[in-house]
Amino acid sequence: MKKILAVIMLVSFSIVLIESCGGDAKKAVDKTKEVAQTVKKEVTKAVHTPDLTNGKKVYDKVCVACHMTGVAGAAALNDKARWEENAKLGMKVLVEHAINGVPKGKYGVMPARGSCTDCSDEDLADAVAYMVKEAGVTVK
Ligand code: HEC
Repeated sequence: MKKILAVIMLVSFSIVLIESCGGDAKKAVDKTKEVAQTVKKEVTKAVHTPDLTNGKKVYDKVCVACHMTGVAGAAALNDKARWEENAKLGMKVLVEHAINGVPKGKYGVMPARGSCTDCSDEDLADAVAYMVKEAGVTVK
């Protein structure tokens, strides 16, 4: 975490330096603000602690359609073998797959965001954490 922050800071600082050399100070300040906002967003994402209560809500509303019984090749919540296979991918990849979908999966097509248009990335991360917990597997 500290390493990531250090790299981000270094990159933002270099951008500021490069921009200031151009003599356009206002532009450099705007760029710094923009970078700072991106950094804040990324850090929020990286340190997001899953909210399992929210995860259950999202699951019950969206993911349940396919993941309860395993419709269309989805991993059913009680299919431990499939969740152990999923667990090997690691939490970061699982969440990334929930966000972007798995267009050409081994078992079927996982639609991006489970087709939920009003789910935030955090909602999806919470839902994945809930599903993993219910499936009884440990994911790093
Ligand atoms: C239309 C059915 C459908 C819905 C709705 C759906 N999924 Fe999926 N999901 C799938 C299928 C099919 C797969 C298996 C893809 C494959 O072959 O690997 C999958 C796989 C996954 C995986 C493991 C994929 C991997 O390889 O990393 C995760 C995590 C996941 N879904 C999360 C969710 C979450 C969270 C939601 C709710 C927001 C959701 N899914 C809603 C069909 C669905």
